[in-house]
Amino acid sequence: MGNWTLDSIAWDRFDGSKVDPEILRNIKAAAMVERNGADYGTYLGRVFVDDPMVVEDVDRWAVEEIQHGMALGRWVQLADPAWNFDAAFERFRRGYRLPLEATASVRGSQAGEMMARCIVETGTSSYYSALRDATDEPVLKQICARIAADEFRHYKLFYDHLRRCLKRDRLSRWSRLRIGWSRLAESEDDELAYAYFAANEPADAVYDRKRYREAYARRAYPLYRRTHVQRAMAMVLKAVGLEPQGRLNTLMTRAGLWFLRRRSSQLAASGL
Ligand SMILES: [Fe+2]
Ligand SMILES: [Fe+2]
Repeated sequence: MGNWTLDSIAWDRFDGSKVDPEILRNIKAAAMVERNGADYGTYLGRVFVDDPMVVEDVDRWAVEEIQHGMALGRWVQLADPAWNFDAAFERFRRGYRLPLEATASVRGSQAGEMMARCIVETGTSSYYSALRDATDEPVLKQICARIAADEFRHYKLFYDHLRRCLKRDRLSRWSRLRIGWSRLAESEDDELAYAYFAANEPADAVYDRKRYREAYARRAYPLYRRTHVQRAMAMVLKAVGLEPQGRLNTLMTRAGLWFLRRRSSQLAASGL
C-alpha cells in the first residue's frame, strides 16, 4: 500500500511564480490518465481472474494510480484556479475507453501483459523523475518525487509477477522485446494525446491524434536527462531478461538521448 496521502503534501509551500505554463499543460493531461487508473484495474482484474495474487495487488495499485491523478489535479487547480478537473475528466472519459470487455490480455498472454506493465511503469517512473528534477515549483517537486517513488515500486511489483508468469507462459526474450517495443511505441499514442486535448483545448476544438501527441511530447521530451534515460533503459533490459547495466545499456541510452533531443528540436520548431 502507498505510504502517503494528499495530506502528506505541504500544499502551503505552493509558489505560483515558479509555475511553468508549458509544464502545466502536460500535468493537466497526466492528472487525467492517472485518475483513470480504476479502468486499468478492471481490465487487469479480468485478464488475471485466475490469479488472486495479481488481483489483490492490482486493486491496491489502482488506488495509488488514482491518488497520483488526484494529487496532480489538485496542484493544477492551485496553478490555474479556472481549470475544472471534473469537467475535463468527464470529457476525457467520453472520448477514450480501454478494452474493458476483454477477458484475455491484448498482449497475447499474462506474461505479455506483465511485460507491457513493466514498460508503462518504466515510462512513468522516468517521466516523474524528470519532472521532479526539471520543476522549480516546490509543491510539484514534492508530488513528482512521491509519484516517481510509487512508479518504481509498481515496476518492481509487476516485474515480480512477470517472473512468476514466465514460469507458466514461457515467453522468449525476443517476444518480450517485441511486446516491450510495441508498448513503447504506444506511449506516443492515443491515451496521452487525447488527455492533452481534453485537458487543454476549447470545447469546439477538433481532436487530431498526431497534433496533440506532438504537443505533449514537445513539452515532455526536453525534460529528460541522461540519468533518467539510463535508469529507464536498465529497467527495460531487466524486464526483457538481459543484463541491465552492460554495453547494451550504454548504447540504448545514447540512442534514447539522441532520439529525445532530435525530436525535441523538431517539435520546438513546429510551434504546437
Ligand atoms: Fe501513476
Ligand atoms: Fe504506476
